[in-house]
Amino acid sequence: MTDDTIDYDAIDFFRGSELVANPYPYFDWLREQCPVRREPQHEVFMVTGYEEACAVYADADTFSSCNSVTGPFPGFPIPLEGRDDVSALIDQHRDELPFSDQLTTMDPPKHKDHRHLLMRQLTPNRLKENEEFVWQLADRQIDEFIARGECELNGDYANPFTMFVIADLLGVPEEEHQEFRDALARQPRDQTVGNTNESMSHSPLEWLYDRFCRYIDDRRREPRNDVLTALATTTFPDGSLPEVIDVARVASNVFAAGQETTVRLLGATLQLIGERPELQQLLRERRNMIPDFVEETLRLEAPVKGDFRLARREATVAGVQIPAGTTLMVLNGAANRDPRRFEDPTEFRVDRGNAREHLAFGRGVHSCPGGPLARMETRVSIERFLDRTTDIRISEAEHGPVDARRYQYMPTYILRGLTQLHLEFTPVKAEAG
Ligand code: HEM
Repeated sequence: MTDDTIDYDAIDFFRGSELVANPYPYFDWLREQCPVRREPQHEVFMVTGYEEACAVYADADTFSSCNSVTGPFPGFPIPLEGRDDVSALIDQHRDELPFSDQLTTMDPPKHKDHRHLLMRQLTPNRLKENEEFVWQLADRQIDEFIARGECELNGDYANPFTMFVIADLLGVPEEEHQEFRDALARQPRDQTVGNTNESMSHSPLEWLYDRFCRYIDDRRREPRNDVLTALATTTFPDGSLPEVIDVARVASNVFAAGQETTVRLLGATLQLIGERPELQQLLRERRNMIPDFVEETLRLEAPVKGDFRLARREATVAGVQIPAGTTLMVLNGAANRDPRRFEDPTEFRVDRGNAREHLAFGRGVHSCPGGPLARMETRVSIERFLDRTTDIRISEAEHGPVDARRYQYMPTYILRGLTQLHLEFTPVKAEAG
């Protein structure tokens, strides 16, 4: 609910910290003014309406993804105002933008070819093989803390779990998993509110590029019967063999895009399970409701608050004129709470009929290719947490009593999720001691 005493226009969504704990009243306020509204601090068009978000996502020809990760910071390298069409300038300067070698920031037709490389690694068969490992891995991680009767979900479970799942998916040899865990744990936090650091350190990605270049070189020289060989021999749709670095980038993308996001989703689901005993009971008794529960969580707490686009030419969305060269932020977390689409949108309804229509995974040509994996990881994790405990509670020592909880959220304008979640639980009898 919006608060009439707050001057929302005076708040800087990108640099301030006021909206980190709860951005939703601000999103509602924006949508009430207009589902496509320019915020005054950085002149970004904030797209908060569901239909409007879909319209922007559907039009990759007008709305470039070159700034999809970074948005207003550092901004485009040269001024774009006052022109009718900035397409040529985008093509000329896009490589100067951070993350320009990442799939998320590419536009068609190049995007299509590179996405093809990625989709060859995420086939239903590969995901099925990976699921067997995911079940074992969930247990292996839970083994580490079950006897303690408590854990900090992100550090003890979600971070290593999501990292190992992706390492397995891409065929990283198991004896090297720990090395990946250590290297990626040093990952810097980008898109931190207030962080306008133009360099946006790239080092963990470069570490991954190096590592995957080595794997791919090796497998091209000496093919084996393994997942890395399949990765190394993947071709573009026209049958040509990509450069080694192109394949390494796609593999690294999967790490970059798939880990932090899924950690946030795991946190949101386990927080709800801990906060709502009746919901926990329902899920214990009716495991087939877990997928619906995950969808409604994705709707209500989209782990990616929004993605950016840059208008190539003048466009109109919801009757609002968007000049060429302006940045838009498509707010998945706001569109998912648009009352024109979702009845009583702030209510958590595990049996909501249309929860799956949420935009947590985006839409259109860039829509998240990791959605099926993230859903599977979350479903398996919930199953195993429920199987191995008789009840899961939020730690009052860490988060305060029920009526005065203290939670900290990621201080970024892109990601939505808890920095830590301390849980307590009673292990099932066979586990105790
Ligand atoms: C709950 C977890 C996840 C959420 C909420 C999420 C969200 C998103 C969103 C909103 C986009 C669209 C970006 C845009 O349009 O600019 C995206 C793209 C992407 N995601 Fe995910 N994601 C999740 C998990 C994963 C996983 C597990 C993987 C890896 C297997 C992954 C890999 C990617 C990649 C490679 C892209 C870029 C696709 C492209 O540009 O064509 N994501 N994700």
